[in-house]
Amino acid sequence: MVDFCAITLKRPIVNGSGTFDAIAARRAFGVALLRDFPFGAFVSKTITLSPREGNPPPRLWEAQAGMINSIGLPNRGLHGYLEHDLPQLAELGVPLITNVMGSTAAEVSQLVEALDDRDEVAAIELNVSCPNVATGLDIGADPGSLAALVRAVRPLTGKPLIVKLTPNTADVAAVALAAQTEGADAVSLINTLRATALDRSGAPWLGGVTGGLSGPAIRAIALAQVAAVARRVSLPIVGMGGVSSGAHAADLIAAGATLVAVGTESFRDPAAGCRIWEELKSLQIAGSGSTTVNAAQAQVEVDVNSGDSA
Ligand SMILES: Cc1cc2nc3c(=O)[nH]c(=O)nc-3n(C[C@H](O)[C@H](O)[C@H](O)COP(=O)(O)O)c2cc1C
Repeated sequence: MVDFCAITLKRPIVNGSGTFDAIAARRAFGVALLRDFPFGAFVSKTITLSPREGNPPPRLWEAQAGMINSIGLPNRGLHGYLEHDLPQLAELGVPLITNVMGSTAAEVSQLVEALDDRDEVAAIELNVSCPNVATGLDIGADPGSLAALVRAVRPLTGKPLIVKLTPNTADVAAVALAAQTEGADAVSLINTLRATALDRSGAPWLGGVTGGLSGPAIRAIALAQVAAVARRVSLPIVGMGGVSSGAHAADLIAAGATLVAVGTESFRDPAAGCRIWEELKSLQIAGSGSTTVNAAQAQVEVDVNSGDSA
């Protein structure tokens, strides 16, 4: 059992938002899915106030070690989520974390207030990889904008508030610190890295022109950013980015994560959450009574510090 913001999870592995369609998986696998649900909590894909169709195709580009997605956050909107998705997700039997996004504090406030009313929701995750309508910059790229957003929504809910940080910023730890100062309960990172791909004529391949890179290609960046955030804030961290094995999860925990999220790997192997948890347990048993994790933690600190000063 793991305690995360006073929520009890059966395992420290969760899904990355938008990377596991639990409703489709339930249709495909029936009750077998519920017998050994891959994740200790389920994180919804990003929900916006109004329904969104997402970006035009093509939406995916296979990179050498991962993929670029330009899905564009299609979703039913808040009302559709509350009416249609939430009752089905509540049957999964694990705590539910609802991920939301809006382009103004007023929009995010409406989302948070509506979710605060629903007992099925254990925690709210704010996806701050959204352009600020006033500045055009991503809200999560700037500590000042992020602080203003968290200040506006924090009083609207007693549920744990997780800020999902963007890696597309100069100083992710400064943004994490702003979230902590304004009363966030946890941070999660990393989201995808902005990326693009061209066809042979030099034109953008993706319908959305740019997308987000995820998978093995970003794991080393995730490790460095989680370690940097863990050094600056005392909040619990959900670490993610390129995790495909128990050893990768152990690395993120050594770097300071309390929970580890599995994203792109679930597309390759829908049961990845179960396998990664089994592998992590074996590593923890093998390392118990020794200093394995502390040694790994020290190594990450050494590596990141030497990176900082290079
Ligand atoms: C297809 C796809 C859809 C995603 N959708 C969302 C989303 O709706 N909201 C969000 O906050 N992150 C979203 N993400 C980002 C993931 O949750 C995760 O932060 C990122 O992919 C890094 O983890 P990974 O390398 O294990 O995939 C998405 C990622 C992918 C690949």
